[in-house]
Amino acid sequence: MERLTSVELFAGIGGFRIAADENGLNTIWANDIDHTAVTVYRNNFGENSIVEGDIHDYIDSIPDHDFLTGGFPCQPFSKAGKKQGIADYRGTLFEVIVQILAKKNPRYFLLENVNSLLFMDNGTHFRTILSALSKLDYKIEWRVFNAASFGLPQHRERVVIVGSKDVDSSDSYFLSPEDEANLAEGVVDIVSRFERWNAIETSSGKFKTWGMANKGLFVSADVLEKQYLPPVKLSSVLEDAPDPSFDFTEDTIERIKSSQYVNRYFNGVQILYNQSGGARMGYSIFGVDGIAPTLTASTSRHYERYQVGNRFRRLTNVEYARIQGFPDQHCDATTPYNQYKLYGNAVPPKMVSYAMKKLINKEYRRIEKQTYDMFDYLEVI
Ligand SMILES: C[S@@+](CC[C@H](N)C(=O)[O-])C[C@H]1O[C@@H](n2cnc3c(N)ncnc32)[C@H](O)[C@@H]1O
Repeated sequence: MERLTSVELFAGIGGFRIAADENGLNTIWANDIDHTAVTVYRNNFGENSIVEGDIHDYIDSIPDHDFLTGGFPCQPFSKAGKKQGIADYRGTLFEVIVQILAKKNPRYFLLENVNSLLFMDNGTHFRTILSALSKLDYKIEWRVFNAASFGLPQHRERVVIVGSKDVDSSDSYFLSPEDEANLAEGVVDIVSRFERWNAIETSSGKFKTWGMANKGLFVSADVLEKQYLPPVKLSSVLEDAPDPSFDFTEDTIERIKSSQYVNRYFNGVQILYNQSGGARMGYSIFGVDGIAPTLTASTSRHYERYQVGNRFRRLTNVEYARIQGFPDQHCDATTPYNQYKLYGNAVPPKMVSYAMKKLINKEYRRIEKQTYDMFDYLEVI
């Protein structure tokens, strides 16, 4: 069977690339503007695996492909025209995605972003995104996933948005019978009947954690978080003997003395000490019995402090890799300092691999069915 081809936009260090490889997709083109990310990508996937530069300069040179992926940077849309709840996205990187989809018309797309996109500006941003994507003749579905549900010790909620050309169906990729049983009364009935969906453009308010959109209409509902892979604690991914350079300085240890010991859990994160009396009066210290808070591109070196045994330290770059589900050496082509930012920006491959699998499995079932139908036909004649 011919492999599906994929293109990875805003590729970073290749979170989608790992998922694509895992699912048998052939990634034929990738792009990122950041030199360090591109260096890491090339080190893992080959010298010609990625094009470095501003995506605006490459829109016309992207090859035809079946599957588009991308964790696009979240930029504010303009408020013009907001009265209808639809903002102007022209000039943003989201517009680039719309242009590429319109030009290349791949069978599938898979996008990822911060989950706050659903409620930011009272839903205006997400409404604009849904409206633009559904005008391109795709059936769209989204769901909020947490990295912690995929065997990773991190609270990281992201919205995954998928599109397919399966526009004549209201079948869901992400809703399981268990989800359906948990939906509020009547919602399942609405999901299965297009005519009861709401118009995207005239709707208002925030969006819920799951939804589908098609032909200018949408349906949205809150679904419970599910555990797809067994949970993992932060303590089980820690390095045995990290270099003392990751430890706190004496000055920091002094400051911890004025922090308040609380030992409570929030979103699965163990908080041992709370800062008391303002920013210069002690620190928040996390424990390792729970999971890590969301890793970001900026907080790593200065704000995240953990107590591991009797040491107070920050996490190592290798621990960042493990918490995001990358191989330990994935970012070896750059300094440990740069690695924090790259991992903090990345998508956990396991999370998008799950979503990709859902789309691909249906695709292969479709191709198999076509092949069987053809054999049936041959037998008849
Ligand atoms: C949220 S990160 C995506 C990370 C990626 N999914 C991963 O797993 O590493 C967004 C990426 O978009 C890239 N980017 C931002 N502006 C860009 C542009 N104009 N053209 C190409 N890439 C851009 C950034 O360098 C960054 O790597």
